[in-house]
Amino acid sequence: MNLSDFSFSTLGNPICDLSSFDCGRADINDFFRNDALNYQQELFGKTYLFTPRNDLNKVAAAFTVSNASIFTRLLPNSRQKKVGYEVHHSKGQVNYPAVLLGRLGVDKTFSRHALGSQIVEFVAQWFAGPDNKSGCRHLVVDAYNEDWLLNLYQRCGMKPIFSSEKQEREYRQIKDNGKALETRLLYRDLILLKRNSIR
Ligand SMILES: CC(C)(COP(=O)(O)OP(=O)(O)OC[C@H]1O[C@@H](n2cnc3c(N)ncnc32)[C@H](O)[C@@H]1OP(=O)(O)O)[C@@H](O)C(=O)NCCC(=O)NCCS
Repeated sequence: MNLSDFSFSTLGNPICDLSSFDCGRADINDFFRNDALNYQQELFGKTYLFTPRNDLNKVAAAFTVSNASIFTRLLPNSRQKKVGYEVHHSKGQVNYPAVLLGRLGVDKTFSRHALGSQIVEFVAQWFAGPDNKSGCRHLVVDAYNEDWLLNLYQRCGMKPIFSSEKQEREYRQIKDNGKALETRLLYRDLILLKRNSIR
């Protein structure tokens, strides 16, 4: 399946029924069905939808984006260098502007057809491109800590911000209760898209 075969819209315009949207994860379903519109009205995050062109009432995929930052001073030294690796004149730069892909869901009817991966690429291109109204250097995801999902994001060019769960727990000040972290932060440097396109 190709994303270009779907119609793209902002949540609420036109009004779309998300009551049967089911990506297989209850909290994400609940967010899109019940909270996303209010979240958008409060300017916390904008939700966008892909709907099949022949059935504009069915939502195939949804995602939410918000402005974000990577504060390099909150990272260990080695990771500051890694995240700022491609940044010229990074000396003194402590805060890189970013976009957070806060929620992403593909309805089960459409899953495993590469829509999720294409949406990650779409968001990266969109925010690196000329239509974006503000500076945005990185794409950030706080992904559920599940191997298949982390692998999916990494195949989409995202890298872990922290080198290990131990380091992430320490720097994000998450209490060690012996359980695995629920989520892992990943980033992608969007400048590489621009540089690759002019090379
Ligand atoms: C994560 C999600 C958006 C991926 O959407 P998708 O369109 O199915 O993803 P893709 O088709 O691009 O997946 C590519 C690969 O990811 C892996 N993958 C996708 N879904 C998987 C699943 N449920 N279990 C295991 N691996 C999976 C597979 O390797 C797949 O390739 P394959 O089908 O050739 O084996 C979708 O599964 C979803 O909505 N999940 C519930 C919500 C969620 O977890 N969102 C992420 C929040 S961080």
